[in-house]
Amino acid sequence: MPGCRLLVVNHAVDMGGAERVLLGLLARLDREKFDPGLAVPHRGPLAERAESLGVRVHLGFPSSRLLQVRRKSLGRDRLAAAAYPWDMTWTVLGLRRLIIREGYELVLTNSAKADVYGSLAGWLARRPVVWRFHDIPDRATFSRLNLFLLRTSASFFASRILAISEAVREALADLGVPRDKIKVVYNGVEPQGEAKARRREKREEWGIPEDAFLVGMVGRLVEWKGPDVFLRAAALLSEAHPKARFVLVGDVIYGEREYLAKLKGLCASLGLEKKTLFTGFVDDPLAAMAALDCLVHASVEPEPFGMVLVEAMSLGLPVVAAGAGGVPEIVEDKLTGLLVPPGDFRALATALEWMISHPRERKEMGMRGKRRVSERFDLGFVCREMEAELLSALARGKGKRDG
Ligand code: UDP
Ligand code: GLC
Repeated sequence: MPGCRLLVVNHAVDMGGAERVLLGLLARLDREKFDPGLAVPHRGPLAERAESLGVRVHLGFPSSRLLQVRRKSLGRDRLAAAAYPWDMTWTVLGLRRLIIREGYELVLTNSAKADVYGSLAGWLARRPVVWRFHDIPDRATFSRLNLFLLRTSASFFASRILAISEAVREALADLGVPRDKIKVVYNGVEPQGEAKARRREKREEWGIPEDAFLVGMVGRLVEWKGPDVFLRAAALLSEAHPKARFVLVGDVIYGEREYLAKLKGLCASLGLEKKTLFTGFVDDPLAAMAALDCLVHASVEPEPFGMVLVEAMSLGLPVVAAGAGGVPEIVEDKLTGLLVPPGDFRALATALEWMISHPRERKEMGMRGKRRVSERFDLGFVCREMEAELLSALARGKGKRDG
């Protein structure tokens, strides 16, 4: 029997955490059970990587003007705002047509925007729609209109919502989405082998001595990820431990070079210029992490999950993380890492100080973290769980249509 034709809908084509998670699923998806396609707005890294995995790619969804609508507003472009209802209708109807024409039986949406237009299109085509939900939807991050659209689509048009953490599930429930529709399925990572050779190689490339304590932050250079908090903590740590080195792996988004210049300015004013490396975006973040002695997560807003944490832990690295959102579900304080209050650079520096002065304990933390990841956040296991959820949504949908 041919696999179920599954249409995955994502509004972005650049590689963020949600896109990496999606590619992990597509790479592992059982092709005897599923025959996947992907609807995205235009070409880009996600489309190319999905194609190389043998996934059919459909371009044009959503329309380019709809892409300019931001989470917190309709965007600065007045024309885009005025045309919003029309663009939304065009995208939804076009997607509905695609679903029917290509014989898709099930829809999986993977980003907040796609949840809205994907659910409507799937519902109109009478196909079950499953959400993979990666956000904490609240007034801090979404506009009232977007929260209303999310709540309505979740409540009426989605058949199942797979939240990436309990924190995400709670936020959805607080928004008014029926709790029994939401299930937590954590993200997963591929198991990692020995990192020693990779560590040596990367340090050589970066010119970091083998015995220097190297602390790194890996992630987009955006304000809410707290790169400035990381730099301020680094400056404090550096006073007591002048040999410590720091690295920021990742780039700004939407070409915001001014923010990068601001961060580099801060780095220089803190006297860290010679001790800090900005690598820009790297394609192989695990190879970069392998060079570290400790990974820092510094988000100042609640992190829905934090792939960088499970990735670092899979390499046996101890982590210091901002303990909000889904993070405490991943990092157990004092067992697999240290949790600090978000935005508190002094607490972050103290935690790093502890890491430097407790080499044996921090290695044990790393090992416990590695074990925890293999038990709770294994990609193979997560994908089987996702498949089971998708198939049961399909069966329920068929039951409803036949009944
Ligand atoms: N990442 C990457 N290259 C970089 C920096 C980060 O591939 O230069 C990856 C990182 O390893 C992780 C993802 O981008 O897999 C970020 O996901 P996370 O969930 O931590 O945060 P998000 O950006 O999705 O909020
Ligand atoms: C989103 C969240 C991040 C999560 C990622 C993958 O980008 O901000 O916390 O890890 O999706 O699910």
